[in-house]
Parts: sequence; structure tokens; C-alpha cells
Amino acid sequence: MLNEKIAVLLNDQVNKELYSAYLYLDFANYYEDEGLEGFAHWYEVQAQEERDHAMMMRRYLIDNGVRVTFEAISKPDKAYKNHTEPLQAGLEHEKYVTSLISTIYAAAFEAKDFKTMQFLDWFVKEQGEEEKNAEDLIKKMKLFGGDSKGLYMLNQELAARVYTPSATGPQM
Ligand code: FEO
Repeated sequence: MLNEKIAVLLNDQVNKELYSAYLYLDFANYYEDEGLEGFAHWYEVQAQEERDHAMMMRRYLIDNGVRVTFEAISKPDKAYKNHTEPLQAGLEHEKYVTSLISTIYAAAFEAKDFKTMQFLDWFVKEQGEEEKNAEDLIKKMKLFGGDSKGLYMLNQELAARVYTPSATGPQM
């Protein structure tokens, strides 16, 4: 059985990961509208990864005797004025998620819950990668997205992203 505070934080994080999936699908909707199907695909893959994160946390809670409860998922409510804004919003969102994971990690440390710390190690690493991916997208957009040919090539590059289930994570 998990420490109650840790259980509440992890349950809340399940909801937040599902919101992340929602947010990235909203980005994908925007890019579909703009005719940038490669960008849309990239965020569809990202949304699948976020769902994996939610599933991994849900499974960890269940395997540790916690009854998981779901809350309503917030509606993504931003409008984007240009092709770079979702990329920037994605980076900001990942930084926020990193702060949430850090908060759970700190609570686990305080509770001497070493099992949860070990579980969260995968997510700490994953957050580092996700922030870097988001930063790289912004950099590439600045470098190549300024003219239609560069944008076309970038769109093609992003279309090639392959979804790999987060099977290397814990409890899967
Ligand atoms: Fe589940 Fe994008 O972190």
C-alpha cells in the first residue's frame, strides 16, 4: 500500500498525462487545419506516448493496492496565431510536467518511499528527453520554417516519426 499523499499525487498525475495527450491532439488538429500533416502526425505520436505514461502510472497504482479514480479532463483552450506557437506551448507544458514529476519525487523521498522513487526514475529521464525534443522542434522551426520549401522539408521529416510503445518503462 502506498503512502496516501503519494497515491493522491500519482492519481492526479494520471489525469495530467491524459490531459497532455488531449493537448497534443489539439495541436495535431491545428496542424491538420494548416495543411501540415507531418506536424500533426508528430503530435499524434506524442499523444500516444502521453497515454502510455498515464497507463504506466495507473498500473503502478493498481499494483500497489490503490483504487484509481478519474477526474474530468480539461479542454485545451488556446488558439494559435502561427506555426511556432504550439511548439512553444509544448515546451512550456513539458517544463510544467517536469515540475509535477519532481514534486511527486520529492514527496516520495520525504516518505522514504524508495519503490516509488525507482518507479519515477524512468519519468525523470523521459522528461529530460521530452524537453529536449520540444526545444529541438523550436530550433528547427526557427532555422528552416521561414520559407515554404524549408517548412515542406520539416513537415516531411516530422511525418516520419514512428510510435514506439513505452514498453521499456516500469510496470509494463
Ligand atoms: Fe508525459 Fe510529455 O510527459
